[in-house]
Amino acid sequence: MREPLRDGHGRPIGDVRVSVTDRCNFRCQYCMPAEGLPWLERDGVLRFEEIARLVALLASMGVHDVRLTGGEPLVRRDFPHLVALLAATPGVHDLAITTNGYLLERDAAALVAAGANRFNVSIDSLQRDRFFEMTRRDALPQVLRGLEALAAFPQAHPIKLNAVAVRGFTEQELPAFVAFARAHPYEVRFIEFMPLDGDHAWRPEQVLTGAELRAAIDALQPLEPAPREPHATARVFRFADGRGSVGFINPVSEPFCGDCNRIRLTADGRLRTCLFSLHETDLRGPLRAGASDDKLEQIVRDAVWRKELKHRVNEPGFVQPARTMSAIGG
Ligand code: 5AD
Ligand code: SF4
Repeated sequence: MREPLRDGHGRPIGDVRVSVTDRCNFRCQYCMPAEGLPWLERDGVLRFEEIARLVALLASMGVHDVRLTGGEPLVRRDFPHLVALLAATPGVHDLAITTNGYLLERDAAALVAAGANRFNVSIDSLQRDRFFEMTRRDALPQVLRGLEALAAFPQAHPIKLNAVAVRGFTEQELPAFVAFARAHPYEVRFIEFMPLDGDHAWRPEQVLTGAELRAAIDALQPLEPAPREPHATARVFRFADGRGSVGFINPVSEPFCGDCNRIRLTADGRLRTCLFSLHETDLRGPLRAGASDDKLEQIVRDAVWRKELKHRVNEPGFVQPARTMSAIGG
């Protein structure tokens, strides 16, 4: 065991998001351009053993929660094997996967067997044509089959569904999402649109805030607040009649930076201390040059010490990072 990892503002770091690939089989408007992005060279992407070594080091510093993301993590060959490696890593208590669901019908059983214990599935619309419009893939039926395949495993629950909320789009989705959240054991969560899109087309006016969404949903079906878990980014509300719940993740209108306990590792082995960091720290170079765990620990501590106090999305002069969500890892 090593000293717990803390940043220079005194925040303990307990959560790492690992992007296992920058590639994706979707092209969501709020994330990637239609033509995709220049992908990383395969050699530049961390191998499973390299990811496992870095995660083990972080876990020995108290980073107990690991979330695997992409791009789309399930497009990485043998991804369940990585899940098994990490599930067997001492100090990893929680192993989560964020996926677009397209390959879940194929992989849900293998991922659950490998030890993944939480899943977030992204679904922005429950109407086939509008799902296609947002993701640029006509894939809603496939995703819903994937979700069903996953839901068959009790170990995979609670399952969370993520919808990015975009003004002019998501308002029309609310009745269907309310009905879905009440009919299934899934928590539907709306995430405010953040300036991490591939087209750099984000505008503040496109952010449909959590407060607006909550008011609109409450008018359809009354809500009441549910208790808040520590470090939870979502504000959760139950339907007042007890059937189902919805959550709101409001990074733009109500930043939760003060309570942030996360860091991120990109597919090419760079440590990011904030979604909106303009600076990142290379771990792949030292790792491949033969650095010891003690040396890597020092590099990680130095970088984490300088973790940003907060993001500046709402401030004049905000600069969008060059990487999109797909290259950072949600
Ligand atoms: N703003 C908010 N959420 C985003 N995601 C991707 N891009 C954005 C963005 N610009 C979400 C995806 C997925 C998670 C990894 O991040 O929908 O649920
Ligand atoms: Fe792919 Fe996720 Fe980006 Fe959509 S949001 S393009 S599913 S990485």
